[in-house]
Amino acid sequence: MSTNSQSGQPAKSWHGRLTAQADGATARLIASIDVDYRLARYDIAGSIVHAQMLAEQKIIARDEFRAIREGLNSIAADIEAGKLPLPMELEDIHMVVESALIQRIGEPGKKLHTGRSRNDQVALDLRLYVRDAIDELRALIADLQRAFVDLARRQGRIVMPAYTHLQRAQPVLAGHALMAYVEMLGRDDERLADCRKRVNVSPLGSGAVAGTSLPLDRQRTAELLGFSEISRNSIDATADRDFLCEFCFACAMLAGHLSRWAEDWIIQSTAEFGFLELADAYCTSSSMMPQKKNADTLELIRGKSATALAQLVGMMTLVKGLPLAYNRDLQDDKRFLFAAEEAMRQSLAVAAGIVSTASFRADVIAARLDAGFLDATALAEYLVGRGLPFRQAHHVVGSLVGQAEKLGKPLKQLSLDLLRQACDRIGPDVYDFLGAENVVKRYAPAGAGGEKQLEEQLAWWTEKLE
Ligand code: ARG
Repeated sequence: MSTNSQSGQPAKSWHGRLTAQADGATARLIASIDVDYRLARYDIAGSIVHAQMLAEQKIIARDEFRAIREGLNSIAADIEAGKLPLPMELEDIHMVVESALIQRIGEPGKKLHTGRSRNDQVALDLRLYVRDAIDELRALIADLQRAFVDLARRQGRIVMPAYTHLQRAQPVLAGHALMAYVEMLGRDDERLADCRKRVNVSPLGSGAVAGTSLPLDRQRTAELLGFSEISRNSIDATADRDFLCEFCFACAMLAGHLSRWAEDWIIQSTAEFGFLELADAYCTSSSMMPQKKNADTLELIRGKSATALAQLVGMMTLVKGLPLAYNRDLQDDKRFLFAAEEAMRQSLAVAAGIVSTASFRADVIAARLDAGFLDATALAEYLVGRGLPFRQAHHVVGSLVGQAEKLGKPLKQLSLDLLRQACDRIGPDVYDFLGAENVVKRYAPAGAGGEKQLEEQLAWWTEKLE
């Protein structure tokens, strides 16, 4: 049996029962310290609160609690400074911290794990970790939303095409297109906030699966750790990883949104589009082609959606078909959690900078605005205003577009004669309705792509993001 030299403790908490030494490969398979060291602060915070409650319940003595707290704080400082060894044989962060504690303070350290299992401990650590991760991601999302809103304020009045099927559809203000991303991110933020409600439930005191005969005060530890409630069922509390699946889903959805934006902007910054200029700082060049300016940061953000989606699939696969309650499979949950969070943190940390340094090329957009008959729908609606049923109007305009295409002209350059040959309800006022700029001025309903709707969106989001 290997022993912890200073305390004479067995190196592993369960070495009273099992005495065989794992070989290297087995120890590596069993260990999770390579990833779960990231839970250290949360593990220690949870342990301090658990010990405080044990003392308040007179399960351990006050001075034992004080020794535990002091020991744990010194361990936290050493971990922070990278000074605490993280030996694989101790498996995970829970055992590393506990064995360091026993090494430092002796007897009282052996009382920390009273009424507790690594099963409720890891569930607690994960919940504390995810709660912070959600708060940090939400702050980063808000930064990105603000960057979009600012760009919409700076250049939002430029008239540009909106696309469906990546074909020119109808004209909109550029700000309207930008605010679409703000909406998407707003839902991501809501999803994270909603997930947080189910994260913020304390499992501590559930033990290994059934609780304990010791009189733990679960409300007290929950309150000290800022949880809004305690779990009602110890089996569920130790087996539940729904909150990780939800978090991974929220990340995957967010990543999907970021990748749609990235794709739009990659396209819009090509020579073929020329709509958008990205700051050099967010682009890279080619080792061979001297002229290149590639939107690599956007491509990487688009690519991170694969990482995020993969973690969701992995996380959900991990819990599928697991018998209740805790199974060691769950140890790998952290790998998915950390990878999903890291991908989103990396993407969001750069995204706001890309947006706040980008600019639309108003000249290029304007020079090509007549292409693609962006005003065709508006012309059909002009005819509706002259009493023509929409289906007929659609047909009339369709044939006019066909003629205009042959002549190589936009609709607004067709003569009144030619227009009236297609439909005699067309009057000379039609030219006030044609052309992308005129179309945008007439957008009527809430949420449409015009000026007053943009003002409304900017006002709504500015207040929300304050
Ligand atoms: N490192 C483990 C995990 O993350 C802790 C729980 C181990 N529990 C057990 N009964 N072996 O899941």
